[in-house]
Amino acid sequence: MTAAVSVRELMHQPPVVARPQMSAPELARLLDGAKVGAAAVLDPDDRVIGIVTERDLLRALGTGLDPATPVETLMSPSPVTLTADNPVAIALEIFRQHHFRHLPVLERGRLVGMLSIRHIVRVAHIEDVRPAGSAPTVAPPGLEGVAVAETAVGDVRGEEGFFHYRGYDATELARRCSFEQVWHLLLIGELPDQAQLAAFRERARVARELAPEVSDLLQPLTRVEPFAPLSALRTALSLVASSLGLRPTLDSTREEVMDAALRLTAVAPVVLLRQYRAHRGDPPADADPDLGYAAAYLQLLTGRRPEPEAARALEQYLILTMDHGFNASTFTARVIASTGADVGAAVIGALGALSGPLHGGAPSRALDTLDTIGTPDRAEQVLRDQIEHGDRLMGFGHRVYKTDDPRSTLLREVALRLGGDQAEFARQVEATALRVLQDLKPGRRLYTNVEFYAGVVMNTVGVPRDMFTPTFACSRLAGWTAAVCEQAQHNRLIRPSAIYVGPPAPRPLPPGYTAA
Ligand code: ACO
Repeated sequence: MTAAVSVRELMHQPPVVARPQMSAPELARLLDGAKVGAAAVLDPDDRVIGIVTERDLLRALGTGLDPATPVETLMSPSPVTLTADNPVAIALEIFRQHHFRHLPVLERGRLVGMLSIRHIVRVAHIEDVRPAGSAPTVAPPGLEGVAVAETAVGDVRGEEGFFHYRGYDATELARRCSFEQVWHLLLIGELPDQAQLAAFRERARVARELAPEVSDLLQPLTRVEPFAPLSALRTALSLVASSLGLRPTLDSTREEVMDAALRLTAVAPVVLLRQYRAHRGDPPADADPDLGYAAAYLQLLTGRRPEPEAARALEQYLILTMDHGFNASTFTARVIASTGADVGAAVIGALGALSGPLHGGAPSRALDTLDTIGTPDRAEQVLRDQIEHGDRLMGFGHRVYKTDDPRSTLLREVALRLGGDQAEFARQVEATALRVLQDLKPGRRLYTNVEFYAGVVMNTVGVPRDMFTPTFACSRLAGWTAAVCEQAQHNRLIRPSAIYVGPPAPRPLPPGYTAA
């Protein structure tokens, strides 16, 4: 049906226009004011000579943009254009092939509009909502490319190597903010001021306290063998959630849902690390009340007040992994929340989704590869052998990012800042791996992903390998619960359809087949 729609019906008009000599800050204001992601650049005769996007600005900012830079040096010249009468199917094909996100639309050679991929996605999304009972016609494997909800929590833009939380660049948040500030942003929707932050920290600190009777109930769980920290967290957090007497989100106020979200996110590290230490035979450790989330995490793990540098490094990792678009566990949490279930049920379901190796299951594998390599001189041979045997290099490649994963870029910095032989070794192995991938897998656009340096950072600050995924789970709770609150606030039961591919129905039962 989308194919029958013309570009004219979907394009944004009037289009936003920039001039070649306009400065970068002027352009930023223009795009911001018009709330669009791209402008067409016109010459003095109003002919389209280029297109300039937010992405171009971001890239330029990343390389230390001179504010005087004119638009003509940022723009993509001679852009591919559409005509207003083109069917949307043509536009879709161009978007797909070239990975563009915006296309100028012309009529008799004059600019009349701008078509964004978002315009098409929105229509495809609306068209897919059929009346109950009518038969769906497509089911893309893994729902790839299907928009299943609207969200204001955040987004991932894989082609640009950019992801954000509520519009703020997540890597900038990780560079400049504390865990609690970003957590507040995700949960409440705004960055807190000083007073709001102090109140939020205090609520989180109080929520870390586990009632003694609940602690006692958790004890036997630590004797389960084999002990798997993530399963232990899932089981124990379920128990804690029950003890909080959470009400179904359907029957709760917005504040009650947010309160449950805050409590579960705050208490998860306590539950996880108490279990972990108890299983190892270590006495329970408490966190000093003045410590923030990340430093408290390390004290709960080791029993010692951490060095500020270690706590800050972990904090940056935790901020970078709080949320990442509509991933499988976030979707799971939202589906459960859409039934009106309580926040605990949604979070426990999300933990189950995260436990699969295709999602959060194995961030220690990249570190295992470093161990296998052992010394820099062996890197080339080991990595070549792995690829030639059909194996994948752990910590490289990503389904969404087809350029540098912004999390890996910052974590590389964090690892090198922490210092140590392993970080330096990892850097050498990374350089070799990228060269080998370029050589043996040309054109596949394989870059370092979050896992490569995440392992190095966590290892350096003292998080054991079997705690990598559970640590990730703790930070992701902030994202899951923000998504749950959003779902609860604008809820509609998520109930998609499937395409039946079994034997034609109805089938007659075999003659004489009766109850046995
Ligand atoms: N090493 C070697 N080759 C690779 C790698 C890799 N890490 N990743 C992809 N390729 C190759 C594939 O072999 C394939 O080559 P071919 O065209 O010769 O068959 C090509 O690149 C495309 O592979 P796809 O499977 O289509 O890529 P996809 O985007 O689906 O894969 C994935 C993404 C699963 C992350 C993949 O890159 C991978 O397995 N990486 C290693 C494991 C890893 O680091 N996982 C953590 C990801 S980060 C996260 O999810 C939080």
